[in-house]
Order: sequence, then structure tokens, then C-alpha cells
Amino acid sequence: MTTPTPSGAKGPGRWPLIIVGVLFLAITGFFLYEFMDATGAEVALREVTPVADGLTSDSYLSEVTRLLADADAASGARWVEEFGCIACHRLAGNVKIAPNWQGIAARAGDRRPPLTAAAYLYESITQPSNFVIADYLPSMPADYATRLSEKQLGDIIAYLLTADAH
Ligand code: HEC
Repeated sequence: MTTPTPSGAKGPGRWPLIIVGVLFLAITGFFLYEFMDATGAEVALREVTPVADGLTSDSYLSEVTRLLADADAASGARWVEEFGCIACHRLAGNVKIAPNWQGIAARAGDRRPPLTAAAYLYESITQPSNFVIADYLPSMPADYATRLSEKQLGDIIAYLLTADAH
């Protein structure tokens, strides 16, 4: 006849397992917390504004076409200096505060489909917070729509559309 082992006798044998389990949970929890924290920080830094609903390939197009009809790129080159754009942007080179303008004519049409390159540039200048490029802060001044005349705005868009040629 065998006497059943009192259940309490097994207790001390399980302690190492319990300790390992608790440690495992604590470490996993810590990493999970850290991970979520890091992800949160990244999201805050990017500040990506959701793409506005209802954008079509026609958005801003009539406005931009009108502005470009009378525009000249050479004057645009002057305005980007006069209005301080080049304090943050450069044609080439690595400036961290804002994306440089090398290749912008080619890239502009891919930034925010279905906007055309010209429409994208128009929106970037007049409503910069509508779309903020990943890894940049939304630091571009929001008042160019009122500071620039229509002629100046058109000239700048024309300049950027041909920026690589300068
Ligand atoms: C104080 C700094 C600052 C000034 C001044 C500034 N910008 Fe910007 N600009 C930015 C930053 C930062 C971004 C990227 C974040 C964003 O998308 O808003 C940007 C984005 C842009 C883009 C989109 C670039 C791309 O690669 O898609 C264009 C175009 C642009 N700016 C044009 C201008 C023009 C034209 C002026 C002057 C009339 C100007 N900016 C003045 C900071 C600036």
C-alpha cells in the first residue's frame, strides 16, 4: 500500500519554475513597453497628416495651370532666395532641416498620387501641413499662401519643375 505524497511536499520543487516564469514575464513586459514607447516616439516625430480624402488628379490643377501660364523659372530662382526658402532647402547637398530640391521635378509627381508634380508643389508651398514628408518635422512656414503673390507662386513652381536644369 502506497501512501500518497502530501501535495505540499511538491511545493518547494516548483519554486525555480515559478521564478523563471515571473522573470520571463517581467522581461517580456519591459521590452514590449520599450518597443511601444519607441514606436510612439517615431510616430510623433513623423507627424504624418493623413492624406486628405477626395484628392483627384484634377485637384489644384486649374489653379496651377493658371499660375504657370504666366510663370518664369528664372524669377522663381530669385524668389526662393528672397522669401528665405533656401534657409531650409538647398538645391543639392544634405540639409537635415528640409529635403533638398535635387530631383524634385521627377519626384514631385510620385509624392502624393494622384496629384501631378505641379499640383503637389502648389500644395506643398501653400498648405505645407497637408502632407509632411516622413522624417521631417512640420516646420515649413504656413503663410506663403498669403505672402507670395500669384505671380511669385507660379514662378517658384516653374523654377522647381525645372530645378534640375539650373
Ligand atoms: C523653416 C524651414 C523652411 C522654409 C523657410 C521653407 N521650407 Fe519648404 N519644407 C520644409 C520642411 C521641413 C519640409 C518637409 C516637411 C514637409 O513636408 O512639410 C518642406 C517641404 C517642402 C516641399 C516638398 C519637398 C519634397 O521633396 O517633396 C517643397 C516643394 C517646399 N518645401 C518648398 C518650399 C518653398 C518654395 C519655400 C519658400 C517659399 C520653402 N519651402 C520654405 C521647411 C521649410
